[in-house]
Amino acid sequence: MLDQKTIEIIKSTVPVLEVHGEQITTVFYKTMFENHPELLNIFNHANQKQGRQQRALAGTVYAAAKYIDNLEAILPVVNQIAHKHRSLGILPEHYPIVGKHLLIAIKEVLGDAATDEIINAWAEAYGVIADAFISVEAEMYDAAANQRGGWDGFRPFIVEKKVEESEVITSFYLKPVDGKAIASFKPGQYISIKLEIEGEEFTHIRQYSLSDAPGKDYYRISVKKEAGMETPDGKVSNYLHNTVEEGEVLQISAPAGDFFLDTEKNTPVVLLSGGVGLTPMVSMLNTVAELQPEKEVTFIHAAQNGKVHALKDEVAATAAKAKVKSVVFYDQPTEEDRENNSFDVEGYVTKEWLKENVNVEQADFYFCGPVSFMKAINAALKDLGVTEDRIHFEFFGPMASLEA
Ligand code: HEM
Repeated sequence: MLDQKTIEIIKSTVPVLEVHGEQITTVFYKTMFENHPELLNIFNHANQKQGRQQRALAGTVYAAAKYIDNLEAILPVVNQIAHKHRSLGILPEHYPIVGKHLLIAIKEVLGDAATDEIINAWAEAYGVIADAFISVEAEMYDAAANQRGGWDGFRPFIVEKKVEESEVITSFYLKPVDGKAIASFKPGQYISIKLEIEGEEFTHIRQYSLSDAPGKDYYRISVKKEAGMETPDGKVSNYLHNTVEEGEVLQISAPAGDFFLDTEKNTPVVLLSGGVGLTPMVSMLNTVAELQPEKEVTFIHAAQNGKVHALKDEVAATAAKAKVKSVVFYDQPTEEDRENNSFDVEGYVTKEWLKENVNVEQADFYFCGPVSFMKAINAALKDLGVTEDRIHFEFFGPMASLEA
């Protein structure tokens, strides 16, 4: 437990952190990677370049500082991050490295304002926050390893089948090399893949949502080919698309993530996706169709046009079997799309459309897609009076804010 004086120092330095937070974490990463380049095997180089991870970490540090005497209040956030950490293989021994470099950065950016008293208070507070993460993650490591078909760390999987789902999205069917059982998962969860790319100094780890229902003898991921080989994300997704063939082996960590469909509830559900955000939604759809075929489901997918619309036939076939209403939005349909009547609505998903077409009073809403799509859906649902407890979403990449 921190003493009252330390808590007061921490809370009074929050405004200072809010001004300098991003600068501090930028210096922190630079120094940490200089001293521990091996950590570049774990961190996403793309997020570092775009500063997204800096913002995510800064935000969590402010939140933790504000609630330092009541960390329970931020447990949902800790839980979400801990899932990501567990999936990546972050261990207790990594925490002191982060703590040390965070303090070095605070000192460097704040200069004389960072008195010994402030630095000591932050060292203590970081210890408390780190312990909270470490204990939540320890439970997750145990759960991942001890479930049926579970495992610790990364396990080799063979690419059994590769299926082109659209011009930009390809599915990979993955089976364990040891031929043994694989852990079940909740629809919406993801796995991490660790890749060694020839000619690259460090490994790359990326998360991909599982795109089929659980209970199979394979995991399926559906990966979008990102534009631009020169960006780290482009490099990884192009490598998977262009270089990883059937029969190749990939290193995979056990399923993780706190964004998943509540299969206990019987109330209606609306699954909304934009672009490759459809992957966790198809997993949810396939699961409901298998487990709760009587459940009222609306599956709404927005894509540019038919060329980039993935898993179209699969969704249509599932919808036909279960009580699912499927609606396809294209904002730039091609002539061929028009001739084939391959979409239902031209344009974007709007508040007005949702009001007329879905059960706003009772349904749970799950959504995933580009940030602009997520912001629009979130704002529309709030305007329509959908309560927070019925709104569930997932960001691909570090968390961001949906407000404004
Ligand atoms: C991701 C916070 C410790 C490595 C994240 C995210 C946050 C965060 C907010 C983004 C989560 C998301 O995208 O869903 C923290 C806090 C820590 C801590 C507050 C300390 C108390 C660590 C440690 C390591 C680590 C000790 C390893 C040295 C990572 C990595 C990611 C991540 C690799 C994935 C994002 C990326 O690759 O850029 N962390 N973290 N974190 N964290 Fe931590």
